[in-house]
Amino acid sequence: MIVGILTGGGDAPGLNATIYGVLLRAYQLKDVEVIGIKQGWKIFTFPKEEILEIKDHYLEKLDIGELDDLHTRGGTILYTSRSNPFKAVTQTNDPKEKEDLRKEIALDLKEKMDLLGLDAMVIIGGDDTCGVGAAMFQYTKAKVVACPKTIDNDLAGTDYTFGFFSSAQLASNSLDSITTTAHSHQRIFVVEIMGRDAGWLTLFSGLASGADIILLPETPFDFQRDVIDVLRERVKAGYTYHIIACAEGAYPSMESLERDFTVVSAEDIHNLPRDSFGHPALHALKIADKIAKQIRKTKDLEETFNKYHTNFEVRSVVLGHTMRAGTPNVYDRITGLRYGYHAMTLIGEGTYGKMASLQGTQIRSVDIEVGSKKKYVRPDSDLVKIRDAMVEVKHKSKEKYYI
Ligand code: F6P
Repeated sequence: MIVGILTGGGDAPGLNATIYGVLLRAYQLKDVEVIGIKQGWKIFTFPKEEILEIKDHYLEKLDIGELDDLHTRGGTILYTSRSNPFKAVTQTNDPKEKEDLRKEIALDLKEKMDLLGLDAMVIIGGDDTCGVGAAMFQYTKAKVVACPKTIDNDLAGTDYTFGFFSSAQLASNSLDSITTTAHSHQRIFVVEIMGRDAGWLTLFSGLASGADIILLPETPFDFQRDVIDVLRERVKAGYTYHIIACAEGAYPSMESLERDFTVVSAEDIHNLPRDSFGHPALHALKIADKIAKQIRKTKDLEETFNKYHTNFEVRSVVLGHTMRAGTPNVYDRITGLRYGYHAMTLIGEGTYGKMASLQGTQIRSVDIEVGSKKKYVRPDSDLVKIRDAMVEVKHKSKEKYYI
């Protein structure tokens, strides 16, 4: 049996561990050849007629004997890309046309899989990458299985995606480090943390490092209430530096945006991409920088800081890709290995259309279709309640709480 394996979307620590898990199980099963497909779905976006000609640039046999301890390495040896063969589907709004196009593309992908000589495939990715596999299985019963990857942890089908805890640790370490320089200079730091749709990374790293304000896409904020008033109360209580952990996709309520943000013009909002209802996608505002600028312009806050002889200086930092970098931590190495091993086990059993899923401490399977849907932080979750309690406690007088 020839099994193709690809990694798609943004890279995440643990991709190589997952590949290694697949290879370990393939080795045990015998008679299975694993072929690495480079750069995600890219080769599948070429016309059928060209596929065989370019095949050697994209496909490579993976030999476990040459990949010793692959699970310890960061990144992905298969390279990755954001190529999505279903891109055209997003360009039409007509439901019937969308459906027809999805089916047509899925059939085309299955033909390409056959042309490449792949009997089955392991797809390692987030909602986009795995969504391709879900459609292939839905329309063609292609022999595909998936493993849930993303630093964002925003996949419905699993408790935790691999990559998340390594990234959350890096973000938390950075927040810890920024705290020392913030302390020295008595500064306010707005730290932007990846996560354009979901706030898991910001919430976990923000809580872990004791950030003073944590802004998430799932709970649109009120700049006056959640930022300015909190900073004012903090400085009055004797705090001299402040860390605001801000998700890349966090945004203010429309009311707050219109009332509080002079650094965002009507034109900025007009030029934003639109969501499916035609509303401006506020998460694309580059909000950390805007928050920093807006704080600087808040004169009455500056006066309060002056009154308490505290520096009024604001900086914004974008952690960006540093959070996806480096080797996976223990959790992601083990979770990746387990997902990969499980995916190959499913293929060995002849079970397809499934995604490996962590449920509690067990690895199980869910339909790719269901598993690759998005998962967000629930505003009523204990984590958000802990966030709110932490912020509130930090309003209080230091003396009162620490005597
Ligand atoms: O999907 C993971 C992710 O890291 C997001 O958190 C982030 O918004 C995005 O990828 C960045 O993508 P790119 O590496 O393509 O700039």
